[in-house]
Amino acid sequence: MRSFQVITTAATVLTSLVLHCEAHRALSATIITRATKLLPSYDYVIVGGGTAGLTVADRLTEDGKTTVLVIEYGPNIMPNSIKTISGGFGGMSSGYLYDIQSVPQVNLQNRTTAVQAGKIVGGSSAVNALMTVRGTTEDYDRWGSFFSGSSDWSWQGLLPYFRKALNFVPPNADVAASARMTYNTSYWGTTSGVYAAWPSFQYPGTTLIMEAFKGLPGVEFPGDSGSGKPGVYWYPQFMDPKKVERSYAKTGHLDNQNRSNYHLIADSRVTKILLNGTTATGVTFIPANSKLLTNTTTVVASKEVILAAGGIHSPHILQLSGIGPKKILTAAKIDTIVDLPGVGQNFQDHPMLQATYQYRNLSAKPSPDDMFMNATFASWAQNVWRTNKTGPNSIATGNAAAWLPFPVISTRASTISSQLLAQNHSAYLPADTDPTVAAGYAAQMRALASALNGNNTAFFNFVITGGSTSGILIDLHPLSRGTVNVDPRDPYGRVPMVDYRALSNPMDVTIMTEIHRYARKFHFENPLTATWRTTEVVPGTSVQSDKDWEEYIIESLSPSEFHPVGTCAMMPRELGGVVDEQLRVYGTKNLRVVDASVMPTLPGGNTCQTVYAIAEKAADIIRSGAGTKARATVLA
Ligand SMILES: Cc1cc2nc3c(=O)[nH]c(=O)nc-3n(C[C@H](O)[C@H](O)[C@H](O)COP(=O)(O)OP(=O)(O)OC[C@H]3O[C@@H](n4cnc5c(N)ncnc54)[C@H](O)[C@@H]3O)c2cc1C
Ligand SMILES: *[C@@H]1O[C@H](CO)[C@@H](O)[C@H](O)[C@H]1NC(C)=O
Ligand SMILES: *[C@@H]1O[C@H](CO)[C@@H](O)[C@H](O)[C@H]1NC(C)=O
Ligand SMILES: *[C@@H]1O[C@H](CO)[C@@H](O)[C@H](O)[C@H]1NC(C)=O
Ligand SMILES: *[C@@H]1O[C@H](CO)[C@@H](O)[C@H](O)[C@H]1NC(C)=O
Ligand SMILES: *[C@@H]1O[C@H](CO)[C@@H](O)[C@H](O)[C@H]1NC(C)=O
Ligand SMILES: *[C@@H]1O[C@H](CO)[C@@H](O)[C@H](O)[C@H]1NC(C)=O
Ligand SMILES: *[C@@H]1O[C@H](CO)[C@@H](O)[C@H](O)[C@H]1NC(C)=O
Ligand SMILES: *[C@@H]1O[C@H](CO)[C@@H](O)[C@H](O)[C@H]1NC(C)=O
Ligand SMILES: *[C@@H]1O[C@H](CO)[C@@H](O)[C@H](O)[C@H]1NC(C)=O
Ligand SMILES: *[C@@H]1O[C@H](CO)[C@@H](O)[C@H](O)[C@H]1NC(C)=O
Repeated sequence: MRSFQVITTAATVLTSLVLHCEAHRALSATIITRATKLLPSYDYVIVGGGTAGLTVADRLTEDGKTTVLVIEYGPNIMPNSIKTISGGFGGMSSGYLYDIQSVPQVNLQNRTTAVQAGKIVGGSSAVNALMTVRGTTEDYDRWGSFFSGSSDWSWQGLLPYFRKALNFVPPNADVAASARMTYNTSYWGTTSGVYAAWPSFQYPGTTLIMEAFKGLPGVEFPGDSGSGKPGVYWYPQFMDPKKVERSYAKTGHLDNQNRSNYHLIADSRVTKILLNGTTATGVTFIPANSKLLTNTTTVVASKEVILAAGGIHSPHILQLSGIGPKKILTAAKIDTIVDLPGVGQNFQDHPMLQATYQYRNLSAKPSPDDMFMNATFASWAQNVWRTNKTGPNSIATGNAAAWLPFPVISTRASTISSQLLAQNHSAYLPADTDPTVAAGYAAQMRALASALNGNNTAFFNFVITGGSTSGILIDLHPLSRGTVNVDPRDPYGRVPMVDYRALSNPMDVTIMTEIHRYARKFHFENPLTATWRTTEVVPGTSVQSDKDWEEYIIESLSPSEFHPVGTCAMMPRELGGVVDEQLRVYGTKNLRVVDASVMPTLPGGNTCQTVYAIAEKAADIIRSGAGTKARATVLA
């Protein structure tokens, strides 16, 4: 049995020891107290033991020589609530999330909303809803298009890393046959410690709803969620198929590593990147529960400091370290070391809208409604789960969805695309936005205007849960951009100020209205759904005119699907970028960002799989030596 080395603060060593031994009785983990066992210097210090941080740490330590320290704010534990598959939201209700509220959203009647991100070893991969999807080819080609020449930040450049990132295990043949599931292993790999696997049951309703999309024109069925094509498809879940438990960055990239060169310290908040001039030399951190900036520990990085604190915290840590927009740093009384206007700007997340359709009586049999209402089914489900960990309780959030291009859902696609192109883009950013950031936004809007009128980018996302109701609609490419900045009222830099600036570009309302109208069309103007006797529960038939829809969206929109990206964007510096194509922070040396914050624009899908792929690519870039062009060293 292999193990990894865990270093905990003196205060938590006992708890961790107990928990660790329970979780890994067979392993010989070395638990060392901070005071005596932290090395004086590491080759790489990684800030954040989340999805990207643990992936990069695992790859960099594979040689057995390179020394890496990961510093994680949250605890190093794996409670049952994290492991649980059923429903997909065990992690979310586990309590291991940051307690951050957005600033009041002026376009949402001043509502504030919870900013969700994992605060535990494993990061958001420990608390997410387990949906395992990618964007389309165009989503990734768009990233490279912001750089001149041929960038390998493209679908082709990332595909080897998508393969490396996850270990695909096909569904049970009987379930696949009866649910008419399709998949194609050519888009997947089989080597990672993080699994993409399938539940041992599917509701017949899932298949019925998916196939009903054949009743509306233009919808494709690409046959695999990893093909990079929009359409209606099945997708796996982040699950260890043997244990039927969450598979995530901790189980895949930390546990079972017997490497004395791979260290992790939990319960520790990084407060600052140490800079000699503009060269990163290490970090300082404090115990997570410390209220003041006392009891600071300094650790030296002889090669690089690697930021992997996620889309909310990486820009915050850069700003606290004097790297960011001068105006914002000055207002917070932080000395500007590198005036980098893009840090914390260009903030994006997937807006989520409720739309509840209730399927009272699907004409095809067996009816999922019957199953849900039926006590025999419910007790069978419990029994097979208890005895064999099979059945409906092995489903996380569900394994199918529709991801559709805008011309497929809207007859107004070309008009709406032209309207976006004609906008004065900078008018939708905060008044004092730096011209480089505004130029980057304009470049993004031009790319999205083209995507709105093409069939290779999905805008509409309808999640199919196979039950008696369905209800989530997602706008995959919002046009509004927010900010994540230091709070001048918080001298200890505990919590950043998060502003989604939801609906700051009013065309988001137009696009979401089209998304809702199409969902209604799917349910009520479709030969294949006509017999279902569906009722629209939310928003309901009283919502009809553009004005009705606008009011409903303002009242009900959630500006986040917990996919914060863009705040340390990989863009040219003259387009407000924060990192270059090697993920190095502009104007600095020995400092990179490797997490969700580097995505310049959202992919048209949940972000976790993309973060794993970025992190795998980042590890190759780092191993190949800074400044050299990254090459995929993975076999296709
Ligand atoms: C509730 C929820 C549901 C989601 N559902 C899905 C889904 O179903 N499918 C999907 O694909 N994606 C989903 N996502 C999104 C996905 O999980 C994230 O995009 C991805 O995990 C982010 O990876 P990351 O490495 O950028 O950040 P994280 O994995 O969040 O890692 C950042 C780490 O840095 C640590 N950190 C932060 N600040 C500091 C500091 N100062 N010092 C030390 N450490 C620090 C954090 O504690 C955290 O562990 C969901 C996210 C959430 C929160
Ligand atoms: C773990 O590593 C140590 C030191 O390299 C070695 O002695 C031990 O045999 C390894 N254990 C396993 C199970 O590989
Ligand atoms: C939102 O807050 C702002 C600033 O406090 C205020 O001017 C505005 O009237 C508020 N809007 C609503 C709808 O309450
Ligand atoms: C799987 O995808 C590959 C392309 O990656 C394609 O060549 C092949 O025909 C597909 N197989 C099936 C069965 O669809
Ligand atoms: C995209 O698909 C729609 C619906 O099938 C079709 O009307 C349109 O012509 C297509 N557009 C392009 C650019 O292929
Ligand atoms: C800071 O950098 C300078 C120039 O490279 C070097 O001479 C000096 O030793 C460094 N100081 C520290 C504390 O590392
Ligand atoms: C500093 O840390 C030590 C040991 O970790 C602890 O005993 C002490 O109470 C801490 N002091 C403060 C002010 O937090
Ligand atoms: C469901 O629909 C069928 C066919 O339309 C009908 O015969 C049956 O009574 C309905 N069942 C319920 C529970 O409404
Ligand atoms: C209850 O559900 C089971 C399993 O789906 C099914 O076999 C049975 O016919 C259902 N019973 C009723 C009364 O609908
Ligand atoms: C559990 O699995 C075993 C072996 O496949 C099977 O014989 C048994 O019937 C299953 N139990 C239940 C309750 O389904
Ligand atoms: C575009 O918007 C910016 C910011 O609001 C404004 O300064 C500028 O004058 C506008 N340009 C035009 C041509 O309207």
